[in-house]
Amino acid sequence: MTAPERKPMTLHRLRAMHAAGEKLAMLTCYDASFARVLDEAGVDLLLIGDSLGMVLQGRDSTLPVTLDDMVYHTQCVARGNRWAWIVADLPFGSYHASVAQGIDSAVRLMQAGAHMVKLEGGGWTVPLAAALVERGIPVCGHLGLTPQSVHALGGWRVQGRDDRAAARLRQESRELADAGVAMMVLELMPSALGAELAEALPMPLIGIGAGPGTAGQVLVLHDMLGLTGGRVARFVRNFMAEGGSIADAVRRYVAAVKDGSFPDPALHGY
Ligand code: KIV
Repeated sequence: MTAPERKPMTLHRLRAMHAAGEKLAMLTCYDASFARVLDEAGVDLLLIGDSLGMVLQGRDSTLPVTLDDMVYHTQCVARGNRWAWIVADLPFGSYHASVAQGIDSAVRLMQAGAHMVKLEGGGWTVPLAAALVERGIPVCGHLGLTPQSVHALGGWRVQGRDDRAAARLRQESRELADAGVAMMVLELMPSALGAELAEALPMPLIGIGAGPGTAGQVLVLHDMLGLTGGRVARFVRNFMAEGGSIADAVRRYVAAVKDGSFPDPALHGY
């Protein structure tokens, strides 16, 4: 859609797009310059992911990222953005102590310019998700490989492979849905399970390494631009290798998510 026709994204419109079967394109974003480029290239949702700890700060996990870091980068993204829906991660330790702590942290992210906050994990996060929704703060869940629990999960592994683990993900996703979360990210799980959850739940589920059956896709910006050093996950596609500029690479990503050609289960699936 060209700029003059575009309207700022709302939860209502995201739901309508999902109901109409339009795939949602999300990318991580951490500053105002990239926010402008991604927004103008047609990305529907910008995620200020705590992955910034790894791709901006050079750390080996997301655990050291602070709430102040997230507030700062959310402010930067909000200044560069015009139309996209902004989701900000609650970082490790900013919602683990109590529901009250999680509410205070979410308020800071919303005041920094987020439209929605994302929290990782199921079970213990459900009361917080419900309390946020009750207070008018839209919530995105995050299940599967949850990087803030990487040490408990034994590394960056595909989740939900066996029956018990898959059953647990089904239950956790249902509980988060009942708590009122408006969206969920599914990370690193078999494509069949990603598709099953997306079919079973009413809200849009955004996949990363969860196959083509979800309502939308998200990638870490630096991964899809080929800026990540070392080994890159199987679910990543380097769109920069196919485009002549960052804006072109992002437009290709949006087009590939919308027409369903990314992810390709043969290349990017589990
Ligand atoms: O922090 C992040 O970038 C994320 C995505 C990988 C979904 O949570």
